[in-house]
Amino acid sequence: MTDRELFDEAVKAAQKSYSPYSHFRVGAALLSKDGQLFTGCNIENASYSLTNCAERTAVFKAVSEGVTEFKAIAIAGSATEDFSSPCPPCGACLQVLSEFCGDDLVIILAKGWFKLADFLPMRFDSESMK
Ligand code: THU
Repeated sequence: MTDRELFDEAVKAAQKSYSPYSHFRVGAALLSKDGQLFTGCNIENASYSLTNCAERTAVFKAVSEGVTEFKAIAIAGSATEDFSSPCPPCGACLQVLSEFCGDDLVIILAKGWFKLADFLPMRFDSESMK
């Protein structure tokens, strides 16, 4: 699957967004190391802080299906039909991704790709608690 195809899956996932409060739709498309695709959207709540981001929806769907190794995630977010501006992952999603992904996880945004380490160069993980 190409970066473009994975990004298009993220845009498609954003169409399922439940975002009646922010009206900002986000979709994520997560590709596992064995080639499976897991998508997710943001799911908001009247109690705002209970909102779940698209990336975490995708990760939790995958992990709950027994898949924990990933090579790439594409993220698309927009308040309009135009998803051509980058929507970088929030800190909470980076932390959740870092639980399951190495520094080299590829993060595909509207205008290019990055590595997890570009966003989160020093992570809090199980090693940090020793
Ligand atoms: N959002 C995501 O889904 N992913 C992010 O990484 C950043 C923000 C969602 C949460 C909320 O529903 C909306 O975007 C506005 O913050």
